Amino acid sequence: MRARGKSDPGNLLFRWRHSPPALSLSLLLLATTVGIGRPAVFDSPRLAEDYDWKSAAQYEVGRELLSLLAISPGRSVLDLGCGTGQLASWVSRITGPKGKVLGVDPSPYRIALAERRARKGLAFAVAGSRDLLAFPPRSFDVVYLNYVLHWIDDRRQAIREIHRILKPGGKLGISFEDTTRPSELDEIIERSAKEVLGTLPPGLFLATAPLGLAQLKGMLRQNGFRVLKVKAVESEDRAKTPAELLAFWRASSAGRFLSGVSPGQRQRIERRITERLAARAGSDIRITGKTLLLVAEREASRRRSGPSPSPEKKTSAR
Ligand SMILES: C[S@@+](CC[C@H](N)C(=O)[O-])C[C@H]1O[C@@H](n2cnc3c(N)ncnc32)[C@H](O)[C@@H]1O
Repeated sequence: MRARGKSDPGNLLFRWRHSPPALSLSLLLLATTVGIGRPAVFDSPRLAEDYDWKSAAQYEVGRELLSLLAISPGRSVLDLGCGTGQLASWVSRITGPKGKVLGVDPSPYRIALAERRARKGLAFAVAGSRDLLAFPPRSFDVVYLNYVLHWIDDRRQAIREIHRILKPGGKLGISFEDTTRPSELDEIIERSAKEVLGTLPPGLFLATAPLGLAQLKGMLRQNGFRVLKVKAVESEDRAKTPAELLAFWRASSAGRFLSGVSPGQRQRIERRITERLAARAGSDIRITGKTLLLVAEREASRRRSGPSPSPEKKTSAR
């Protein structure tokens, strides 16, 4: 085995586990930024700013997820896909100066905004679900993903890694929209895209597969989690004009919305979406959906049951 030098990331991670909170956060930051942060392909500073302004609804749902997780002072928490860090900032008020909250996101633009919220016990780093292997086993008491899991291509890998980095008995919180049943919004987008393209290429709107509750519960059980709670809450996309709603979708998807088509096709699809939204709108456009909040607990040892289900099917989803 290769000997570890002082500046070796592995060594830093080892020291992270055995260091006091303030130092451990900076070590963790160093470790996650050494060769790991990758630029987000579709995002931009403007989209990140837009999301920071317009994500009040996601923030409120996130607060509800956090209350189900019942986080207490002094805990170590990972916000995976933290965006611009608003929710992580709220959590760090609960965990306090003796706790550790780390927010990570693959978009450097979102992390640049999040860093303005950093303080004692709260830090941010550019990293995504594929980078979780940088963390030592049993690093966190809580890991949560607020409106993030449906963006992750390899969810199984992410859940396996989350199991590894959680302490036994640690909690996982996930908020997500069930995308196995298309919402009114999905139908508007899909009909508009079909009219322009004649077909619906897989991964057109997001490069992800549909995400449903039964599938998620199965994936969690197979990877050593016990599902403790599931709660449904109403969520709402709201805008004054179709253009505002389209801008929000671009910001919320970190630029992935309609990213798989040419600029001309994109313009035509957006025009059709706009017409449909305008036809159904009163003064404000409100499109309601159902968000599911799920809390699971990491079991002490991983239990594998049954054969692996077939790989996730690629399709368009919100
Ligand atoms: C809808 S935003 C949610 C942001 C934040 N969690 C919140 O509650 O406001 C989705 C976020 O997931 C991030 N994301 C996309 N792919 C990811 C991945 N593979 N791992 C972690 N985060 C990812 C995006 O950069 C984006 O910031």
